Amino acid sequence: MRLVDSFGRVATDLRISVTDKCNFRCRYCMPPEGLPWLAKDELLTFEEIVRLGSILVANGIQSFKLTGGEPLVRKDLALLVAGLRNVAPDADISLTTNGFLLADRARELRMAGLDRATVSCDSLLRHRFAEITLRDALDEVMRGLEAAAAEGLGPIKINTVVMRGVNDDEVVSFAELARTADYDIRFIEYMPLDAQDEWKADLVVPGAEILDEIGRHYPIRAISAEPGPAVTYGFVDGAPGKIGVISSVTAPFCETCDRLRLTSDGHLRACLFALDEVDLKGPLRAGATDEELAEIARACVAKKWAGHHIGRPDFVKPSRSMSMIGG
Ligand code: 5AD
Ligand code: SF4
Repeated sequence: MRLVDSFGRVATDLRISVTDKCNFRCRYCMPPEGLPWLAKDELLTFEEIVRLGSILVANGIQSFKLTGGEPLVRKDLALLVAGLRNVAPDADISLTTNGFLLADRARELRMAGLDRATVSCDSLLRHRFAEITLRDALDEVMRGLEAAAAEGLGPIKINTVVMRGVNDDEVVSFAELARTADYDIRFIEYMPLDAQDEWKADLVVPGAEILDEIGRHYPIRAISAEPGPAVTYGFVDGAPGKIGVISSVTAPFCETCDRLRLTSDGHLRACLFALDEVDLKGPLRAGATDEELAEIARACVAKKWAGHHIGRPDFVKPSRSMSMIGG
């Protein structure tokens, strides 16, 4: 069985948001006071997530990405990793985290079956990091990255959201970090998914501009030409590390999108920017069978639209922001 839409795209990657809560307050994501968090019984339990994960694997999902909010806010996350590993021995299981709690948890996560970690980091300057995230936590995040690398949770990726006039002067510093630490830095264009409605087109730094800037300092060449969100570049001089850009705004990759999202309250979204989502938690808690839940998921994917309309007059921002959907 496959999860296929009317344009022939097949969903193979499931992003699971395990909580809407976060210990950071990144300005492109949520307001300083936080957001009204979901009540505990609205969140899917790990047992429920594992059951849905197992059903979706039977329908063609091959990789799980655990996100939030901040997924490590759920203290026993390793139990979820172990549960998913148990029902999907061959799946790629990765974690996208802000890194704050990663140093102490990397080992248990790896032992539970985690394959890889991606850490979000938008500045290598302590004060600026604190201004962007409202937490003075650059040291903890760097320690988290190092611990993840030491545990073999590589290739270690860093997600960097680039904003004009905020951190766009640091792209070469990030490239230097990639070269010295052998990290894979993925620069993400700022998307209109912030809860504060501060997004503006002129804050977006096009991925092509970032690649040009880095290339002027350290020549790079594409090493994966496959279509997909992040074309990867390596350094021509053979230095370790990689560079990628996720140009969701200036060069959307909707045509080749293979992603499906499960929100922390148990709704399935076929697109990050979808304006509708389907409820799986209700039927699950009402006793639906595996096949009934699979049918709901297949119908959700079947209805997936061609792509988002960012930058077009008919763009409508989804009512949920990033921390509620999961990157
Ligand atoms: N635009 C682009 N990326 C965002 N992220 C969160 N909010 C936004 C936004 N408005 C990123 C986080 C994380 C990833 C899952 O999504 O930094 O790395
Ligand atoms: Fe937290 Fe990630 Fe949102 Fe930052 S972007 S506030 S780390 S959920």
